[in-house]
Amino acid sequence: MRIVKLISETQSIISEYKANGKRVGFVPTMGALHKGHLSLVAQSKRENDITVVSIFVNPTQFNNLNDLKTYPRILDKDLDLLSEYEPDLIFIPEAEEVYPEPDTRVFNFGDIEKVMEGKNRPGHFNGVAQVVSKLFDYIRPNNAYFGQKDFQQVAVIKQMTKNLELDINIVACPIIREVDGLAMSSRNMLLSKVERKNAAKISETLFKACNLVPDFSVSQLKEWVIAEINNNAYLEVEYFEIVDDTNLKSIEKWDDSDNRIACITVQVGKVRLIDNISL
Ligand code: PAJ
Repeated sequence: MRIVKLISETQSIISEYKANGKRVGFVPTMGALHKGHLSLVAQSKRENDITVVSIFVNPTQFNNLNDLKTYPRILDKDLDLLSEYEPDLIFIPEAEEVYPEPDTRVFNFGDIEKVMEGKNRPGHFNGVAQVVSKLFDYIRPNNAYFGQKDFQQVAVIKQMTKNLELDINIVACPIIREVDGLAMSSRNMLLSKVERKNAAKISETLFKACNLVPDFSVSQLKEWVIAEINNNAYLEVEYFEIVDDTNLKSIEKWDDSDNRIACITVQVGKVRLIDNISL
């Protein structure tokens, strides 16, 4: 397990792997690792000769300065956790090297960035694309692994890869959950004990919602989910959308899409959590 900070050193190690015909899998992260991240590492290890993990809290994707400031940074613990999975290379670049000057690139993802996270966090996906395109350029992986928890992020990265004509296979991995169903997230550690306990209501409601299809109409189900969650004093729904999983357009009737996905964002105290489920 090599730990490298410099971009040039990372590039030369990767070139050597490639020269030896190795297939490279890549798992980009912002650290504060949990079993969700580690499941991506494990899948990459199964499917590639070499696995590279990056840890970089990317400033350009935070549209809220306080969120960037409070984002958990626990590198020693991250390295400890990763040592059990033994990725070949851990890349921990410095912001000054990734962004020697402001990145002014503007990406266009069409309609898929105009809804949900794209709509509610202006500039977020542009920042994600800025950093992921740079990381892809340094590492040039064969396969790159992303969690379905950030469902819209996967769609955006797939679109970016297509727009930039990159020969990288984007692999979407299942959501890993806590025992009580809460989707694992680095932000969960920012919840107070009582907020953490109540946050389980989010996934619990999504699981129940699955069983109400098709008895409830789309609009009835939306109302029910929002009311159910907002009924809890610790939770406030920011949005709940039911969309087609390819074009991310909201559906009005169950027949509008064969692959429906329900996406939710909930404010739990100061912490913003997202989750989704296939309906
Ligand atoms: P981060 O939030 O650290 O997540 C890194 C990867 O882990 C993402 O692909 C995310 O979807 C996945 N992940 C997080 N929680 C998960 C869970 N419970 N189950 C499965 N996968 C999970 O997403 C980012 O970082 C950044 O936007 C990044 C892509 C690194 C660009 O900065």
